[in-house]
Amino acid sequence: MGIDYEKISKNYDSVRYANQSTISVFLQNLHITEATKVLDFGCGTGNYADTLQKATHAQVFGVEPSDGMREKAVSKNSSVVFSKGNHGHIPFEDNFFDFVYMTDVIHHIPDLGVMFRELFRVLKKEGFLCIVTQSHEQIDKRFYVKYFPTTAIVDKHRYPDIPVIIGDAVKAGFSHIRTNVKEGGITKVQSDFVELARAKGYSMFHLIPEEEYQKGLTELEKDVMTDALFVPDSSGTLVWLGK
Ligand SMILES: C[S@@+](CC[C@H](N)C(=O)[O-])C[C@H]1O[C@@H](n2cnc3c(N)ncnc32)[C@H](O)[C@@H]1O
Repeated sequence: MGIDYEKISKNYDSVRYANQSTISVFLQNLHITEATKVLDFGCGTGNYADTLQKATHAQVFGVEPSDGMREKAVSKNSSVVFSKGNHGHIPFEDNFFDFVYMTDVIHHIPDLGVMFRELFRVLKKEGFLCIVTQSHEQIDKRFYVKYFPTTAIVDKHRYPDIPVIIGDAVKAGFSHIRTNVKEGGITKVQSDFVELARAKGYSMFHLIPEEEYQKGLTELEKDVMTDALFVPDSSGTLVWLGK
């Protein structure tokens, strides 16, 4: 089953938002000024593009294939230029951007080689690309695998693991600069995660058997209501590439 982002766009923003620690890593690693041209590739409803533009006043652009997701983004921040595009077509001239990033997108890309060649084309020489994703090891450690075990199987199939990402990027001409592994601390599961699961706010919930989803949701709701549930916080991996 495919993921229908036109449908997901309707409630995406009630359950998903920009992760501040990811924005902080961008700001710590880059010198972004008002002249910097930044592309949020697969920007969805523009949560990261909006936050980054307001934090830096850089020239921020978003590219997104889903009309529903992009319309939400357009209504959020009129200083960001949002365009329709995808991994095979980024509607900008060669050597345009100083910095391109993508958050939670790479597992939706059907052909990494095509995407990396297109991103290489639009990135300036000495520009940077940052891919924000999760490694297979991090997927296995997600606390909610206990409730929805098939999500780990489905997602390890969908998510290219870090060495594959680096290998395909290098084939397209990028150099691998570094990989930041963000380990989460211990956190209390809040009702907003339960809301997110109820709304199927992660695409993986659309890809597991409905019976497992319902059973896992009931157990999760019970655990969160009866006990304070402390779990490892969500972790991430940032792959930094250069042209
Ligand atoms: C999980 S959402 C992430 C959205 C946004 N980056 C964020 O972090 O909130 C995945 C996004 O990837 C987009 N996407 C799917 N296929 C794509 C493709 N072939 N090229 C570019 N973006 C794609 C979807 O439309 C969706 O908006």
